[in-house]
Amino acid sequence: MPNYVVEHMEPEIGPWSTLEYIAIANETTADSTFYISSLQDSLAANMPETLKPILESNPRFVATNKDITTLAAGVPKERICLLDPRAEKTLSPEDSGEFDWFVFGGILGDDPPRDRTAELRVHGFTGRNLQKLQMTTDTAVRVTRLVIEEKKSIESGIPFVWNPELKVKKNETVQMPFRYVTDQNGEPILPAGMFDLIKEDANKDLMDLFD
Ligand SMILES: C[S@@+](CC[C@H](N)C(=O)[O-])C[C@H]1O[C@@H](n2cnc3c(N)ncnc32)[C@H](O)[C@@H]1O
Repeated sequence: MPNYVVEHMEPEIGPWSTLEYIAIANETTADSTFYISSLQDSLAANMPETLKPILESNPRFVATNKDITTLAAGVPKERICLLDPRAEKTLSPEDSGEFDWFVFGGILGDDPPRDRTAELRVHGFTGRNLQKLQMTTDTAVRVTRLVIEEKKSIESGIPFVWNPELKVKKNETVQMPFRYVTDQNGEPILPAGMFDLIKEDANKDLMDLFD
């Protein structure tokens, strides 16, 4: 039964992280558990309102101030997989029986990537990449599930798009510097509400130009 652990590494749980975490929680099957871990006490006590009902209704979604070393205390390090773009080996369906815990950085993507996943590398878990290109955290969890639970190969079994352009206004697009899984229409899979948030942010940026 896989455990997916997102070690929260941002100072707050902002709107982007909130939508990503809701998407991961909603995709969590009855056979797995999703933890948001390493929450400072002040964040754990003040979870965003939109996360609260999901946390209360879904026993497979846990928010905790414990970190991965406490959550998986006693689990041999070789059974804990850190999803790490710099790891040597790519995650494959053969890894399904190898790991019980999958750990991700709860980090907002940055362009160019700053390798903040390095902070988790120090624990000495077994690293696996999802190929080189940077994914959002919810995409990285989605891809890991597809590989581990559905035995799809990253090389040939999952449709991806890199750097998609999202049309935020009639004559304006925003390019997302990430790799996404695509849906049956070839569109990037984004958390519910994310497209609106990107549109809002694009508008704010435009307004800032006139301030
Ligand atoms: C948005 S990414 C953060 C990347 C960040 N810019 C960095 O510097 O590490 C959030 C997390 O998703 C996972 N991730 C994203 N892309 C990945 C990839 N290509 N291979 C393995 N893990 C990936 C990693 O666990 C990473 O910490």
